[in-house]
Amino acid sequence: MVKNHKERLKEAQSALEKAREQVKDRYRLNYHIMAPANWINDPNGLIQWKGEYHVFYQHHPYDSKGGPIHWGHVKSKDLVYWEHLPIALAPGDEFDKNGCFSGSAVDHDGRLTLIYTGHNVLDEVADTFKKVQCLAESQDGIHFSKWEHNPIISVSPEDSSPHFRDPKVWRFRDKWYMVLGNQTNGLGRVILYNSEDLKNWRYQGVLAQSDGKLGYMFECPDFFELDGKFVLLFSPQGIKPEGDLYQNLYQNGYLTGEFDYETKQFHHGEFIELDKGFDFYAAQSFLDDKGRRIVIGWMNMWESKMPEQEDGWAGALTIPRELKVNSEGFLTMEPIEELQKLRKDRVSISYSTIKGIKRLENIKGDSLEIVAEFDLNEKRTANRFGLNVRCSEDGSEKTLIYFDVEENKMILDRNYSGQGEGGIRKAKLNRIDDNKIKMHFFIDRSSIELFVNNGEIVMTSRIYPDPESKFFEVFSEGGEVKLITLDSWTLDNIWN
Ligand code: FRU
Repeated sequence: MVKNHKERLKEAQSALEKAREQVKDRYRLNYHIMAPANWINDPNGLIQWKGEYHVFYQHHPYDSKGGPIHWGHVKSKDLVYWEHLPIALAPGDEFDKNGCFSGSAVDHDGRLTLIYTGHNVLDEVADTFKKVQCLAESQDGIHFSKWEHNPIISVSPEDSSPHFRDPKVWRFRDKWYMVLGNQTNGLGRVILYNSEDLKNWRYQGVLAQSDGKLGYMFECPDFFELDGKFVLLFSPQGIKPEGDLYQNLYQNGYLTGEFDYETKQFHHGEFIELDKGFDFYAAQSFLDDKGRRIVIGWMNMWESKMPEQEDGWAGALTIPRELKVNSEGFLTMEPIEELQKLRKDRVSISYSTIKGIKRLENIKGDSLEIVAEFDLNEKRTANRFGLNVRCSEDGSEKTLIYFDVEENKMILDRNYSGQGEGGIRKAKLNRIDDNKIKMHFFIDRSSIELFVNNGEIVMTSRIYPDPESKFFEVFSEGGEVKLITLDSWTLDNIWN
């Protein structure tokens, strides 16, 4: 007997409840979105709907290593504290036999509507597949029914390869628009559709395409207007490393430019990576009722080591970040201000002058926010300064984050961080205001997110230190540096 969607959801949910009992705490995050157990990847369907925030994610509820992908679901009243909801979508219908791939959410006449990619394997050995775009909806924002006439787009454009996925849908004036990740002749591209009713879609052409340098496939596109510019955010695959750039297996970044809804032409500049760390992919954004463009990414990278898999889970999402365009036309990301609600037990330090390594005596933990401001000018003789975070008692295990004055770069070094992948990432600061370097850290059990100078540089990374590595150090090399302020807070758990 073939099971229907409801039965498959029930089965998946009870597998997840069982798996949850086996999950080990060692690397579980305190204030990041994760599934109760097992695998997650991309954030999906981000939306503020009827006064609440919904986040879905790619989820395999049966295994921590991944498999036929479902949609997991959480919601929040304030974007800070979250609750788990039942799994929203399970694959296995004739249009999404082998997976409910990434997609987005819109409100349609009061119904929470999900638009996603149905993944269908044609021949496992030959690795052939067909992808179609599908729709599901919900009255209560919890229980979803797939549209009975799915798919909503059953064939890709003529010149397209079978890679045709990750619909992001939005409304502009009297129409719905959709961008999709796609490929033609071994080149990544983003294609555009529009529709009056969300069910019948017309192909509108190519929005942006790789010239070869931008790789062979574009995943998870998102297209929006921000501060007078149009932004295409996407995850290209196959960009070759170049100096400090494009060091991760796959990239996530953006093009900004001008777009005309009449001609459908997008004239844009160069590709720029959004986050300069190791673990940031498949980011998606949404517009909230305060007019903010909020973005969340998957805080992992495909094919990297995920030590938490041994503990019965894998993958997490970043904290929500507000996107802006700065005066040079680059995107900045900053933690949304609501996250200040998580702060407890403030510790402030003013050592004024730092020379060598100084352990921060009153700061200890694995769930912290730290803001440290350094003065680049006054009496500075150091050529490097920053923090060692999540250090072991003897200081041998640590993650180094520092500014290199000569190189004018922020550096994140996780070669001594513990389990998981090592490596170094470097990012150049485009400008420095007031001769200050402000490092804003969000440190969780197995992650670090660093925001430099109000989001000019953001570096996100998973780290897997020993649970007892809870110490912090501030340091300078080659001389002295003035530490203007250092404030730290313990951060609360978000699952209330
Ligand atoms: C991005 C991605 C998407 C796809 C999903 C499958 O990480 O490869 O293109 O829809 O993951 O889980």
